[in-house]
Amino acid sequence: MMTAGTTVQHARAPGKINVFLKVGAVMEDGYHDLATAYQAVSLFEEVRATTASDFSVEFSGSIDTSGLATGGSNLAIKAARALARTAGYRGGVHLEIEKNVPIAGGMGGGSADAAATLLACDALWGTSATKDELLAIAATLGADVPFSFTGGTAIGTGRGDQLSPALAKGKFQWVLALADFGMSTPGVYQELDRHRDRHAQDIFPAEHQPSVDANVLQALRAGDPHMLADVLHNDLQAPALHLAPGLGKVLQLGEQNGALAGILSGSGPTVAFLVADADSALELQVALSASRLKVVRATGPVHGARII
Ligand code: C5P
Repeated sequence: MMTAGTTVQHARAPGKINVFLKVGAVMEDGYHDLATAYQAVSLFEEVRATTASDFSVEFSGSIDTSGLATGGSNLAIKAARALARTAGYRGGVHLEIEKNVPIAGGMGGGSADAAATLLACDALWGTSATKDELLAIAATLGADVPFSFTGGTAIGTGRGDQLSPALAKGKFQWVLALADFGMSTPGVYQELDRHRDRHAQDIFPAEHQPSVDANVLQALRAGDPHMLADVLHNDLQAPALHLAPGLGKVLQLGEQNGALAGILSGSGPTVAFLVADADSALELQVALSASRLKVVRATGPVHGARII
């Protein structure tokens, strides 16, 4: 699969939906203790890595990428540099990233760039890192990066980076309503903290450990969208709606037009609607588009990062 000396390598990694997300207490490192169920979905970031003497990135794809950072703060560049450091590789890489996951949408697009970059650079440079080594680097880059690497369906705890695979049957169908603005993940977590500070009864005691509802695992195992629709949950939804109240109308619109349920994806602002089948997906897509929303469809679970 990986041939050292090849001058270009192409890797692909998926975006994700958190079908369940409970946020616990703030930990010492400033991150929140989480319990989440991730599902990788069929929107893929495509990363092509070419040998170069320094580190650079350019973007293309189905979405507007003009606002993205291309310097050292870009997560893909950070991923490449982290692997080079760990492996003792002295050269660089030029990355061409075709983006298909909404930007700053709560679907882990930046994390997918990082996961695919790790694989592509490993192959390009012939560093032969093990999967565990790449996962360890992934965890230093962001809470969702290890999941984009492994894909499928998984439970995430700790920051969201401690993964255990979960059984899932069949494919779930999603209709995604994209917003024309991005949301800051730290901003949404801070809004949740502010809300909990204001309402003392909502504060989690330090020892409280969030966990994934057993009904979520059962619905995923059964491959039953009706069951899953009943248990979709995201603690970040209320604070995100507080910051962007218009998302409430989007959720309502989807649920009035055939969605089994809607949920904010991660920290938003993408709203993910679970539908029963392809016909309802099409109907919902038409209804949301008629309200001038940008809509894409996806299915999950799908595989994690891989070399193409
Ligand atoms: O790791 P990542 O870059 O995705 O996280 C972005 C931000 O989201 C963190 O800096 C933190 O403010 C917040 N976060 C958190 N607890 C988590 C994951 C993310 O507070 N478990």
